[in-house]
Amino acid sequence: MRDIENRDDLLHLMEAFYSRMMQDEQIGYIFTEVAQLDLSHHLPLLADFWNNALFHTGGYKNNVVQIHKDLNDKETLTPAHFERWQYLLKTTIDDHFQGEVAEKMKLRATQVGMTMQAKLGHYS
Ligand code: HEM
Repeated sequence: MRDIENRDDLLHLMEAFYSRMMQDEQIGYIFTEVAQLDLSHHLPLLADFWNNALFHTGGYKNNVVQIHKDLNDKETLTPAHFERWQYLLKTTIDDHFQGEVAEKMKLRATQVGMTMQAKLGHYS
């Protein structure tokens, strides 16, 4: 298995991740019913976010914490939701890629998740 190399890899990874999340019994409904996401719009934004987070490309300007605060106003995001999200991302990455960037992505996802939860008032 090879490492994550570019935005295309990230887009394919996000497709695989979201296909798992949307079918998930614990958090699937947040994507399909609460946010009712249009994946053709959403997945490219996620690829841009990760491309910038991992390869410092610039090109992602949205406020990710604020987006999840707004989501949390519609449906409370619990520590259990975050744990499930992290688990599904980690297992999707591990099934497709291996290497330094893949490890960095898992670490970064955990860090952003902790920041979000702190800002949502968990662990305070
Ligand atoms: C409980 C865990 C989480 C759930 C249920 C969740 C769900 C969602 C949903 C439904 C959206 C779309 C919001 C909208 O456009 O209306 C979204 C956007 C996004 N999420 Fe999460 N999320 C979670 C955690 C995280 C974490 C830990 C990260 C860390 C990297 C993350 C990164 C993003 C990004 C980058 C976007 C796209 C923002 C944009 O439109 O530019 N999410 N999330």
